[in-house]
Amino acid sequence: MSEKKKCDSSQGCDSCGESNTCSEEEKQAQREGRVNEKLSHIDHRIMVMSGKGGVGKSTVTANLAVSLARRGYEVGILDGDVHGPNIPKMLGLDKEKLIGTAEGMLPVPLYPNLKVLSMAFMLPNTDAPVVWRGPMKHGIFQQFLGEVEWGDLDYLIVDLPPGTGDEPLSIAHLIGEVDGSVVVTTPQEVALLDSRKAVVFSRMVHVPVIGIVENMSGFQCPHCGKEIELFKVGGGEKAAIDLQVPFLGRIPLDPQIVSDCDGGKPFIATHPESPASKAFEEITDRVEQFVNRRAKKEPLSRPATEGRRVFSGLGEKFK
Ligand SMILES: Nc1ncnc2c1ncn2[C@@H]1O[C@H](COP(=O)(O)OP(=O)(O)OP(=O)(O)O)[C@@H](O)[C@H]1O
Ligand SMILES: [Mg+2]
Repeated sequence: MSEKKKCDSSQGCDSCGESNTCSEEEKQAQREGRVNEKLSHIDHRIMVMSGKGGVGKSTVTANLAVSLARRGYEVGILDGDVHGPNIPKMLGLDKEKLIGTAEGMLPVPLYPNLKVLSMAFMLPNTDAPVVWRGPMKHGIFQQFLGEVEWGDLDYLIVDLPPGTGDEPLSIAHLIGEVDGSVVVTTPQEVALLDSRKAVVFSRMVHVPVIGIVENMSGFQCPHCGKEIELFKVGGGEKAAIDLQVPFLGRIPLDPQIVSDCDGGKPFIATHPESPASKAFEEITDRVEQFVNRRAKKEPLSRPATEGRRVFSGLGEKFK
């Protein structure tokens, strides 16, 4: 900072009476310092992304977070979809508003060890659009990370909007050290085409790819029990092999997921015995293993290859 004494205020610039004497650079340095201080209380940071919309990122985020919370971790979900924030609706928190305290804003708790922050908590009603360009979105993420009392977290999971634009760039930049990205895709080729871009983007911003999830992968007919490949099957796994990243698993299509999402109930908690919940649990196992290995600086999971699906270390042979 310039000749001025380094700011040691624990307040944000917006609520500080002295900030009118500070330059923009000083305020920016103060904001970045506050983000870094808050991030120092978060052990693992994960981005959930995809190239295409509607493939199930928010569903995967919500169920991964609930699964981790049910394992006893302190978990936060940052809904990074400023224009279409769906996480509160999916978790039955859509009537909630953010609470401001002297220490900062408080995320909304779903369980004592699972907290959520979303643009939806700041909107006057569910129909209100957010018409913002990139810099404003960067500013709100800076506030979500620097001005919010997350407390000590084991995991912060960021649900991103589709694509490789402003939001993933801002999050990757602000968080600095992201443990990894989970790329969600559906098996059809048009979805895979875009998901491959998400993998390459993740590498470009130096975020390790934890792996690819193939969602909406097969559907079991409720009448005859036969599996129908509605959107094909296996494309996500093939993309993982081609791009040399791990394959985290297949989640089948299940109409109950839609009902639970719309009803604000976490599917994995309400239908723990279903095949889709088991798939979510396996994906959680793999994410947990990845971050633990990374923290211990052990070799990370090996990419999927023909004949050996998913992860190293699990000794799984599928063919
Ligand atoms: N495996 C599944 N089986 C059935 N429905 C699913 C499954 N996964 C997701 N859905 C449903 O698909 C819809 C889209 O899911 P979701 O909102 O999670 O996608 P998204 O990738 O986050 O979308 P966006 O790109 O708009 O953020 C939701 O209604 C959700 O309930
Ligand atoms: Mg979404």
